[in-house]
Amino acid sequence: MKKLIFLIIILLIGCNSDDSQEAVSNNLIVTSSHGIDGAAYGLADCDACHAINIIHKGLNIRDIVINKGFETCTGCHGDNGTDEPRPCIICHNSNDLPLKPQQSGHFSHNFNTNESDKNCVSCHYSSDMNGNFMPNIDLTSFPNISEQQQDYNNISEFCLSCHNRDNPQTGFEISNQDYNHPLIAMQDNYNFVDKHGWIDGTGSRTYNGLRPNYQYFSLVECTDCHTMHGTNNESLIIDYASKGASKLSSELENYPVTITDGNSAQLCVLCHQMKDIIEQGAENTGNGLTGVHEISGNCSTCHSHGETVQAGL
Ligand code: HEC
Ligand code: HEC
Ligand code: HEC
Ligand code: HEC
Ligand code: HEC
Ligand code: HEC
Ligand code: HEC
Ligand code: HEC
Repeated sequence: MKKLIFLIIILLIGCNSDDSQEAVSNNLIVTSSHGIDGAAYGLADCDACHAINIIHKGLNIRDIVINKGFETCTGCHGDNGTDEPRPCIICHNSNDLPLKPQQSGHFSHNFNTNESDKNCVSCHYSSDMNGNFMPNIDLTSFPNISEQQQDYNNISEFCLSCHNRDNPQTGFEISNQDYNHPLIAMQDNYNFVDKHGWIDGTGSRTYNGLRPNYQYFSLVECTDCHTMHGTNNESLIIDYASKGASKLSSELENYPVTITDGNSAQLCVLCHQMKDIIEQGAENTGNGLTGVHEISGNCSTCHSHGETVQAGL
């Protein structure tokens, strides 16, 4: 009996320390305590101490790391206090990980740097690369206006940490400062005006109806409509359903989206499909899908960010 109690205590202590270890090791970035008393911090040649074949046992990234070699170490574990670059594209390219992420197209949300990997690191400082995207682990934590690091409740909050008027992020200043431009007005738009943001749609308008699994009275994230990694549409609007529209039922993911001169019908029709067909509701928007009240012309005169008079966005 004594033995059993002892065992249970050991197990409990063991569990506790396991828990805290897990919380720490969510972050793969090595710190200044790396190695014995920090002796390994500042050293660039990882292969001097780590044998590539005995690390990463049981991890899904094991094979690709062995395949790509020591060059990749700083990508996931940080630069270890050196100035070594942190490679990403060496693995995240159209051969090795073509869907993670999809990078085809002329436009992407890079920060005017020609060093592509640096762009990735700006938004994904310390991803855990476990195949499961979690905003608070896989997206860089930007300070709020009180210099505090706050959890993101969704991906949109990550975007709004830069796309606002009052809290520019050092190094990522936005050049366009027109008061109503979405680049800096999006925080107010999303919180107080836009139907796809916190303000709910009524779901009772003339052309109402949504495709599965979208619902009225819910939040639509920025990345449902905008992609960061590559598209042929301006304003970073997705050019395939699969690059955004995260809740859309998967048989629709191959529908393309082409935006011309403010005509976003092919975007809207991915999620919107009016129930009672009127006006142009039965007409093909050009990608094979039907269900919006207009299919031609510039939608943005009535449907744009921050629009309060017409139905808005
Ligand atoms: C001088 C030897 C040495 C060098 C060089 C070295 N490490 Fe380490 N590293 C260690 C030791 C010792 C440990 C702790 C024991 C262990 O877990 O293997 C460690 C642990 C780690 C860990 C586990 C997490 C941690 O902080 O304990 C990671 C990840 C790591 N090293 C990555 C790297 C990377 C990446 C490089 C190259 C930039 C590197 N190491 C270079 C000695 C070294
Ligand atoms: C694709 C991302 C990725 C790359 C690249 C990568 N690691 Fe890791 N590494 C991980 C993950 C994930 C863990 C597990 C962390 C945990 O369990 O807390 C890990 C753990 C480790 C550990 C702790 C002990 C162990 O064996 O798990 C060491 C040491 C380590 N890595 C060294 C390296 C070295 C050296 C390189 C370069 C050859 C490297 N890593 C490249 C993702 C990576
Ligand atoms: C402006 C910020 C930004 C930049 C720059 C950026 N990403 Fe992302 N990334 C995101 C966001 C937000 C998501 C989650 C939403 C999504 O998948 O579109 C994401 C998702 C991902 C995913 C998960 C995709 C999936 O389907 O699970 C991978 C992998 C990824 N990014 C890798 C990269 C790589 C590699 C680069 C550099 C070439 C990069 N990202 C550049 C913001 C960014
Ligand atoms: C050695 C190859 C390798 C390198 C280098 C690498 N990754 Fe990954 N990464 C992966 C793999 C494998 C996955 C998991 C893909 C899957 O299973 O869906 C992944 C997943 C991700 C994800 C999706 C979220 C998650 O947790 O799975 C993001 C974001 C990401 N990587 C960003 C980066 C960035 C940014 C860099 C450079 C700083 C980088 N990766 C470097 C192999 C790599
Ligand atoms: C680290 C800061 C930062 C983050 C985070 C960020 N952006 Fe940006 N974004 C910028 C900057 C800087 C520009 C370029 C503005 C300029 O022209 O000066 C920009 C430009 C844009 C543009 C216009 C692109 C074009 O071609 O005109 C869109 C759309 C956009 N961002 C959407 C997003 C979305 C959606 C997210 C979240 C997934 C996001 N951004 C996250 C800083 C950021
Ligand atoms: C990724 C899916 C998706 C896309 C793409 C999309 N919407 Fe929506 N839309 C929704 C959802 C979900 C709601 C309900 C949100 C709410 O009630 O808070 C909504 C609500 C609306 C509303 C308010 C309806 C009401 O009842 O008040 C309007 C107007 C609207 N969308 C117009 C558009 C237009 C115009 C486009 C194309 C530029 C578009 N939407 C693209 C998913 C989408
Ligand atoms: C002249 C202004 C105007 C233009 C231009 C316009 N719309 Fe609308 N749209 C509206 C109004 C007003 C409503 C809401 C009707 C109501 O309240 O019953 C609406 C509603 C919608 C809805 C929301 C349906 C729902 O869930 O209730 C979608 C989707 C939509 N429009 C798509 C488009 C598309 C696509 C275009 C461009 C091809 C477009 N609209 C052009 C005024 C306009
Ligand atoms: C329902 C789809 C949808 C959602 C959700 C959405 N956008 Fe947009 N966004 C658009 C469309 C369509 C345009 C082009 C028309 C316009 O300017 O209003 C646009 C334009 C923009 C622009 C101006 C780009 C330029 O070329 O200057 C920015 C910046 C932007 N969005 C940021 C965001 C951010 C940040 C979020 C989330 C907080 C977001 N958007 C959510 C559809 C969307």
